[in-house]
Amino acid sequence: MTDRQKTRERPNPRRAFAQSYGSLLNEGFNRRTVLKGFLASSAVAAMGGSFGVRNATANEGASTLTFTELTRVRDAQDHWPEGYDRQVLLRWGDAIFPDSPEFDLATIDGPAAERQFGYNNDFTAFLPLPLGSSASDRGLLLVSHEYASPFLMFPGLSMEDYRDKLTDAQIRTVMAATGVSIVEIKRNGTLWEVVKDGDYNRRIHMGTEMLISGPAAGDDRLKTKADPTGTVVFGTISNCNGGVTPWGTMLSGEEGSMDVFAGDYRTLGNQELVERQGWDEDENDIYSVSRVEPRFKFENEPNEWMKFDWVVEIDPMDPTAKPIKRTALGRMTHEGAQVSVAPDGRIVVFMGDDDDFEYLYRFVTRDKFNPDDRAANKDLLDNGTLSVAKFASDGTMEWIPLVAGEGPLTADAGFATQADVVLNTRAAADLVGATPMDAPEGFIPHTGTGKLYVAMTENEDRLPAGEDDFESVNPANPRGPNPHGHLLELVPPDAPLAPDHAANIFTWDVFALCGNPGKPEDESLYHPDTTQNGWFTDPDNIGVDPAGRIWVTTDGPPPDGMADAVYAMDTEGPGRALPRLFYIPPTGSEACSPTFTPDATSLFMSVQHPGELRIDDMEDAESMAEAGTSWPDFGETMPARPSLVVLTRRNGGVVGS
Ligand code: FEO
Ligand code: CA
Ligand code: CA
Repeated sequence: MTDRQKTRERPNPRRAFAQSYGSLLNEGFNRRTVLKGFLASSAVAAMGGSFGVRNATANEGASTLTFTELTRVRDAQDHWPEGYDRQVLLRWGDAIFPDSPEFDLATIDGPAAERQFGYNNDFTAFLPLPLGSSASDRGLLLVSHEYASPFLMFPGLSMEDYRDKLTDAQIRTVMAATGVSIVEIKRNGTLWEVVKDGDYNRRIHMGTEMLISGPAAGDDRLKTKADPTGTVVFGTISNCNGGVTPWGTMLSGEEGSMDVFAGDYRTLGNQELVERQGWDEDENDIYSVSRVEPRFKFENEPNEWMKFDWVVEIDPMDPTAKPIKRTALGRMTHEGAQVSVAPDGRIVVFMGDDDDFEYLYRFVTRDKFNPDDRAANKDLLDNGTLSVAKFASDGTMEWIPLVAGEGPLTADAGFATQADVVLNTRAAADLVGATPMDAPEGFIPHTGTGKLYVAMTENEDRLPAGEDDFESVNPANPRGPNPHGHLLELVPPDAPLAPDHAANIFTWDVFALCGNPGKPEDESLYHPDTTQNGWFTDPDNIGVDPAGRIWVTTDGPPPDGMADAVYAMDTEGPGRALPRLFYIPPTGSEACSPTFTPDATSLFMSVQHPGELRIDDMEDAESMAEAGTSWPDFGETMPARPSLVVLTRRNGGVVGS
């Protein structure tokens, strides 16, 4: 993402913010307003039932965001503010190489899909070219393709019968259309265009050869017939969100890849691990891939599933480099992996484990980032300390190390080696008393203030106080049940000038409690000026723009027929926690991963799973014919196509302000 690139060029994040901010002055930005917000203190609110008093009193003045807020709507189209343009830059099946075949559902197969932009794009980052520059007119899009819905991709299939009816060519298409796309783009006048003959363009998918590194590499539990060394894997699955390192590599979180495996999970050896990893029988075998690749069936290859659900590091600057699964970062349902540089030069990666009652994690490298020698950072993510978050009611939080042999992580408890820890990360975190969260997704350091913003999507199963020690409300997840989700703000020591993201103790606060402020029963909390268009539920991804505003996307069929959308808000000053509705994707879709060019004049986002709901009753669309939209093509025979969009201001100015 843009934030990460700034960090790479200038390791001090505070300085990076100041420089970005400087460019905004040319846009007529009110310096005093920004600084006032930026320097506002961040006293920690006590949690004794009166969380967020600070937000409720910050009601004077206005947001730094000046776009005209949208009016809520849910239909087959997407919507953006007056005075802005929206370009659909890349659709599923679009050519990304000179020889890519035209998108054609009648002939598409694995080899074709490997030459085209993938399906259900999620993570999106803009890496300026040349690497290390602040270019805002040329760069690489680093994009993940999380999953596929075959019954919405191909005609004649339904949710009921598609597993049996999929042809081998369609299965191969799905395997090739998920994973990662790396695509060079350049700006041509007011529009962006794909550079099909770009040197770096690449597709990575369910068959791409990769390496496994870190504590679990070579472990017996990762050995298979095709890989007796336990250090190689073919493919990446369920690539959800991610991050970009300061040396310009992409991190991709594998989120719940067990869904694609077939067979009887009860035949697997370690049933405790299987259950702790979140097995869901109903979701089994969602692509029928074992029909063409037997390794994806438990009975054929009982260890194959252990090779997935890691963080994958990909070097976009070398299309021949094998991606590497970095096991030191733990195995879980990885959402993203956002990166910062601590004041001492160590790298810090923040990760959410996106399931109900799962945890927030952090990885701090042993060694320091070398900004002058890219190659020296190549294996930084193999050595370091994985930790998990524990929140206290006094407004502090602690990062508890997950290290074999430390504390309760003994050999007797099953953690004789660090491989044991990273292969069963959730169980290790259980033992040290981590705080169970309400399905944490977006988790991002703010490039200016050094504070972190975390999105808990929702957790209907969260219990009220006192009913269960583990599942009841806790200081950081204060509503039970929690159908609407919330945002937390974590504050490292020495923020904002030298935020120490590697420190063990942070402070924290509730930033927003989602829901409808017009309904007292929602117990929501935002800036009091929040409009009926501006409130939201189910926060998922969070982006930070170069002026320091956060952009929150939502994911979940919200109540009252709302569409998922994108909301922007200040984090400091009079507009703190005042969300404004900026973009509405077509029905059934979520917008993912808002990311900006360094000059903030282009906003890139993924539009994932358009049409997944029916238009009339918002129930699941069970076939292409039932899809709530065929955006963006709207052709008679065209499916809805997940796409990457770009938002720009018609006057060429900074997006949002
Ligand atoms: Fe892939 Fe947690 O969303
Ligand atoms: Ca997500
Ligand atoms: Ca989600």
